Parts: sequence; structure tokens; C-alpha cells
Amino acid sequence: MAETLVVTGTTKKEKYESLLPQIKALVQGEPDLIANISNIIAALKYGMNFFWVGMYFVKTSRPDPSPLNRARVPELVLGPFQGPVACNRISYGAGVCGTSWKEQKTIIVEDVEKFPGHIACSSETKSEIVIPCFKNGEVYSVLDVDSEKLSEFDEVDQKYLEEIVKIIESF
Ligand code: SME
Repeated sequence: MAETLVVTGTTKKEKYESLLPQIKALVQGEPDLIANISNIIAALKYGMNFFWVGMYFVKTSRPDPSPLNRARVPELVLGPFQGPVACNRISYGAGVCGTSWKEQKTIIVEDVEKFPGHIACSSETKSEIVIPCFKNGEVYSVLDVDSEKLSEFDEVDQKYLEEIVKIIESF
């Protein structure tokens, strides 16, 4: 396994192109999901210089304390990440992450203040991209990347981050 990442290039596309083979090498021969995801997230954070990168996983919610409501529903729970501390749990359809889960598609938000229901884990986040991860046709996780700049993410990020999610889906 490489000890350091060297990301070359000036454009975003060039940086992703240089990072992608290094991410593949990083996870080569390692079957552990958490180890691989943790390293991929660190590679994205430091390789691409993102403000916040992390994953949320679909898990069963905690039991409601009310004896009248014993229902337990799936929700997103924070997994490995790099960046400032973040919200632990996100409901189905809530915020950008919950919407990506519900709509089963990548969501790019140019200005988080204009996204109804955006969950502000950090007041510094200005734009965001969320990519769903699928297993057996169902979303089991989302990859969330935040920027402290407006309109940071576009179709180039979508293309490469979806490729990286395909690697994650293969574990
Ligand atoms: N902003 C996200 C919540 C997660 S944090 O950004 C880390 C959302 O609206 O779903």
C-alpha cells in the first residue's frame, strides 16, 4: 500500500484522474469495508482538498422513548469521515443526504441555503454533493462531500465520485 498520495494536475479532472488509480491501489487486497472506506475518505479529503468528506449508512433507528410509539424506521447514521464533527443521524428524505437516499440519485447543491431542509452540520459549508451507494438495488449508504465555497461541485465531480462509489459498492 502506498504511504503517501501524490495528486498531480491543475484541473479537477486531472486531479481525479491522478487520484483514482491511487485509490484503487489503496484498497487492493483489503476486504474490510470500514478500513477501505476510511482510506478512500482520507484520500478524497487530502487529495482533493475538500472541506468535509464522509459516509452515512442506512441503519435501523433507535427505539422511540414513547411507549406509544415502538416503530423503528431506517435512518442514516454517520460513518467514517474527515473534517469537522457532523450530525449523527439523518431521517429518510431529510436534508441533502436523506433526499439523495429517497430519490436514489446524486444531488448537487450549488448553494446550501437555497436547498429546502438542508441540514447545516457546519455553518462553513456552502455547497455539497451527495452520491448514493447501492447494494441489491437498494441504497445502503451515501457519500457526502461538502465545500466552504459556493458552486464547488459539477458533472466532473459527479462522474469521478460515482466511479469511486462503484469501488465502494464492490466491497
Ligand atoms: N448537509 C447534509 C448533512 C450532513 S453534513 O453536511 C456532514 C444534509 O443536508 O443532508
